[in-house]
Amino acid sequence: MSNQVKIFDTTLRDGEQCPGASMNLREKMEIARQLSRVNVDVIEAGFPVISDGDFEAVQTIATEVQGPVICGLARCVDKDIDAAGAAVKPAGDRGRIHVFLGTSAIHREFKLKKAEEEIIRMAVSGVQRARKLAKDVEFSPEDGSRTEPEFLARVVQAVIEAGATTVNIPDTVGYAVPEQYAALIEYLRSNVKAIDDAILSVHCHDDLGLAVANSLAAVKAGARQVEGTFNGIGERAGNCALEEVVMAIKTRGEYYAGLHTGVTTQEILKTSRIVSRMSGLHVARSKAIVGENAFAHSSGIHQDGILKKRETYEIMDPKEVGWGGTELPLTKHSGRHAMAVRLEHLGFQLSEEEQAGVFTRFKEVGDKKKFVYDDDLAALVEDSVSGTEETYILDYIHVTCGSTTVPTATVRLIKDGEPMQDSSPGNGAVDAAMQAIDRIVKGNGQLAQYSVEAVTQGRDALAEVTLKVNFGNDDLITGKGASTDVIEASARAYVNAVNRAEMLKGRRKASAAAPI
Ligand code: KIV
Ligand code: ZN
Repeated sequence: MSNQVKIFDTTLRDGEQCPGASMNLREKMEIARQLSRVNVDVIEAGFPVISDGDFEAVQTIATEVQGPVICGLARCVDKDIDAAGAAVKPAGDRGRIHVFLGTSAIHREFKLKKAEEEIIRMAVSGVQRARKLAKDVEFSPEDGSRTEPEFLARVVQAVIEAGATTVNIPDTVGYAVPEQYAALIEYLRSNVKAIDDAILSVHCHDDLGLAVANSLAAVKAGARQVEGTFNGIGERAGNCALEEVVMAIKTRGEYYAGLHTGVTTQEILKTSRIVSRMSGLHVARSKAIVGENAFAHSSGIHQDGILKKRETYEIMDPKEVGWGGTELPLTKHSGRHAMAVRLEHLGFQLSEEEQAGVFTRFKEVGDKKKFVYDDDLAALVEDSVSGTEETYILDYIHVTCGSTTVPTATVRLIKDGEPMQDSSPGNGAVDAAMQAIDRIVKGNGQLAQYSVEAVTQGRDALAEVTLKVNFGNDDLITGKGASTDVIEASARAYVNAVNRAEMLKGRRKASAAAPI
């Protein structure tokens, strides 16, 4: 058995299923390029049949991203498998189709209404169809951890015989506990004759907070692929946090005797930051490995120990995961070339035109604050190159507020070159600005979440606003905006959400007209 534990990243598929995390193509591309730099083995880029947008994202990533295997998800349904095959085709031999089908008693009886033999027949025929389109085929018995082990073993044997090259055992609902999940992996290794002809993979959800523990127990029991996401984002409580699995295997090398991953760990922090920025999902300060406090020592005793010998209170060198690089901030005197070099260092690939847009914002901000740090710059990229078609552009905002006045905002937006202006009072300055925007775009967005973060330190820090808005259906649309002024950043974020909603409306119309 190989000593390499393959890392399968599903940030762009299961991660994106997290409410409010849906991303546009540009955001997905930024993540995919960084996943290639951090050197994961597989990128699950999406579920191609579900929308034109997902198909396009998987196909573009398969065309443009070099290095990892590019994977598309499919149910055991012909049109799903064909769409996944077509989307990953540009990756050539690096294309993988991931077919899944529920196997547990509860899925068989209530969701699929199929008997065991029919489930095996569907799984086999799905894998065979996928194998005609790609050499690399993964099969997942959905809800595998709650499937009767004897039946699960029969399914696994059948799909490997049908040509599956990886078999994944999902803990779909996060029900497993480490010892039991490891025992299931051992059981399959002992009871499936063909088990060595495929890579055994695990995919854990975090409903009981055990996704990482379960994945590591399974690795110890012989699994050689771990699926998850950076920052652990995903459906419900999320997926297994890959950065934790990778660093556990590396840091506890003596326990995981001889096992290793191919991940370039120095890129982990950057990957976490990009995922957080693109998905609009913040990382908790105390999050292991990548949280702001992960390597911060506040107690005097600890600080003293660290100064005497770092290892007294640190089990990893922060530099190993990308913390602590020296940063040379830009200033308003920095030129376009210096900014371009910094952007490249941060992993952004921008066209000349996009760079020009960022440079304009950079100069505006440089006039207001002394230093423009890397995080400021990344926030400005998000603000000015959102990848969203800009139906409306924020041209002007003026707000009056104070302890004895009714807050009122006047906003001017540009649509198709035409200025549109309106004013509104509100319950606070931010609310007034959003109501003025609603009046112009004839909308009525309900703010479901609002967060503002100082991107760097100091009174002149850039404020980055992330919000989630419901525009009258069940979708939560994310909007992001940055400025040294919190009200302007909020208005920018709201206009960004309005533009995303417009784009989504356009896409849905197109999808309805031409279903795959
Ligand atoms: O959680 C799950 O079961 C999945 C499968 C599609 C692998 O995401
Ligand atoms: Zn999942």
